[in-house]
Amino acid sequence: MLRSALLNVMIKAAQKASRALKRDFGEVENLQVSLKGPANFVTAADRRAEEILRQELAHARPGYSFLGEEGGLREGADKTHRWIVDPLDGTMNFLHGIPHFAISIALEREGTIVAGIVYNPANDELFTAERGKGAFLNDQRLRVAARKRLADAVVACALPHPSRGDVALTRKEHMAVQDKVAGLRRFGAAALDLAWVAAGRLDAYWERDLSPWDMAAGIALVREAGGFITDLDGREAMLATGGILAGNDAIHRELLQALKEAGKA
Ligand code: IPD
Ligand code: CA
Ligand code: CA
Repeated sequence: MLRSALLNVMIKAAQKASRALKRDFGEVENLQVSLKGPANFVTAADRRAEEILRQELAHARPGYSFLGEEGGLREGADKTHRWIVDPLDGTMNFLHGIPHFAISIALEREGTIVAGIVYNPANDELFTAERGKGAFLNDQRLRVAARKRLADAVVACALPHPSRGDVALTRKEHMAVQDKVAGLRRFGAAALDLAWVAAGRLDAYWERDLSPWDMAAGIALVREAGGFITDLDGREAMLATGGILAGNDAIHRELLQALKEAGKA
């Protein structure tokens, strides 16, 4: 498949970082049986992967700014371009030897996300999207699911840790949505949840209190797969508010309404 130079740069960086992550994931599986567990080891794996990504991307596109989960914002000379990177999304899965985690890389140009890739090294699924050029899983073109009724939909959500966010509201939302959908799921990697909406595996997904690196690449994927994506007020301020709701237009509308009602109840 012929890809743009930009996507090739992003993919090459992800592949390099994924070799380190895969080695570390193998090690984590061994560490499960030790009493100390793999927690510290995973923190180091995360940092290592981010450093590889930062160096690779800086080498290919000198001067671009870089926003990473581990190192925060590193401003480059070029203020119009910014990479937004999560070197390991789905840390809890990784830590427990569950092969559902990803590297997420997006490029923002003058405040607009113009490209995104989400790569799961464990099963070699590579999701890519570039503005105006469509979304793909490996070389297969993606389209969001066509189901029109929430009652037929499989929807992913989050189960935030009680120390984070509004737990009471989350529980109300879960109960309300569970009654209205065919299935409710929690997979534990926001970037992959969005990629799976783009791929039509999930009909919708919502979450609160995310960070830009959890969602930037996934936003590009959903949009380019013909999906609808907003924050939880129905606006496009996802990166600013941390709220996200993605699906096709019909399911998005119905789910947004259900969440609003749950919040008022
Ligand atoms: C987390 C995952 C998870 C989401 C959390 C994120 P991390 O990212 O995306 O699915 O529910 O809010 O923080 O910590 O694994 O990179
Ligand atoms: Ca994340
Ligand atoms: Ca992370």
